[in-house]
Amino acid sequence: AEALKVGVAGLGTVGTSVVQLLEKHGTQIARKTGRAVTVTAVSARSRTKDRGIDVSIFDWFSDPVEMAKQADIDIFVELIGGDTGAAEDSVRAALARGVHVVTANKALLARHGVDLAEVAEENNACLNYEAAVAGGIPIVKTLRESMTGNDVSRVYGILNGTCNYILTRMEADGISFEDCLADAQRLGYAEADPTFDIEGNDTAHKLAILTSLAFGTRISSDNIYMEGITSIATADIQAADELGFRIKLLGVAQRTETGIEQRVHPTMVPKSSAIARIDGVLNAVAVDGDFVGEIVLVGPGAGGNATASSVVADIGDIARGDKTLVLGMPAADLKPYERARMRLHEGGYYIRLS
Ligand code: HSE
Repeated sequence: AEALKVGVAGLGTVGTSVVQLLEKHGTQIARKTGRAVTVTAVSARSRTKDRGIDVSIFDWFSDPVEMAKQADIDIFVELIGGDTGAAEDSVRAALARGVHVVTANKALLARHGVDLAEVAEENNACLNYEAAVAGGIPIVKTLRESMTGNDVSRVYGILNGTCNYILTRMEADGISFEDCLADAQRLGYAEADPTFDIEGNDTAHKLAILTSLAFGTRISSDNIYMEGITSIATADIQAADELGFRIKLLGVAQRTETGIEQRVHPTMVPKSSAIARIDGVLNAVAVDGDFVGEIVLVGPGAGGNATASSVVADIGDIARGDKTLVLGMPAADLKPYERARMRLHEGGYYIRLS
């Protein structure tokens, strides 16, 4: 078959890595999926910025919406970010003409996921978003493809690499919150607006996506209790340590008698638990299924190469011809949204880990 043509919108840390990965591993991607994949178009603010890749060989679009509407592409890769504006408009434009979309944009999905899923279904296009949750960890595929035979009662984890990096370094090296955040930004982990990391918004966006996949509900970020890590001081970390705990920012979604509860907050986790040992930019996601039991996936939650790995996995699914059900289910089968209720776990911010 003809090579699958990819347009990459956004050439920041992740976009640049995606272009490099497709170039470096083109041969094995073709062998593994049965189809060659080639970047034909790119879009970014600056054409001349030095990114370590040669963009002159691609069709160039300064406007991603124009690329989505006009470029000769089969897949539009959205790595612009933001839940409105160019990201939303370009994704809608691509889907509307039946171009598949691969996105890492959790904010966009948390806000417009249901709607975008419907546009994708109507136009027989895929909307794949493995990279939107927990960077390089294949948690979207796990929930969508591997949990078919399970009733999920809970999904929770460390979903923000920047926060975990900050908490880890504050504890290990006694470095101030501000210095740790500056390092995370320098390493390319933080969001364009880092308040989204440290105030918990980014974790909430990812949690909303996980909830939808785990429980088969419509995605909604309206009812998430959210508290970030900005009030955590080194003294809190030391006090937790003396009591036998470490502080982690967790996103938790679980089934309760009253509905599905979604919450994000700093949590004291026992040092003996697996989640307490997740350090630095690593993320971890635990899923409780009634037949499989608990599974935990651990891996890099941010960073260009790790996130590019997930973007390319999504591209690979399309190359293979997999018609994935967007947001976990066909639009026609969307169940009524089960209202998430804000309720703190008994005993304050302690979560019992089996
Ligand atoms: N800012 C995010 C994080 C990037 O730190 O986890 C990955 O979504």
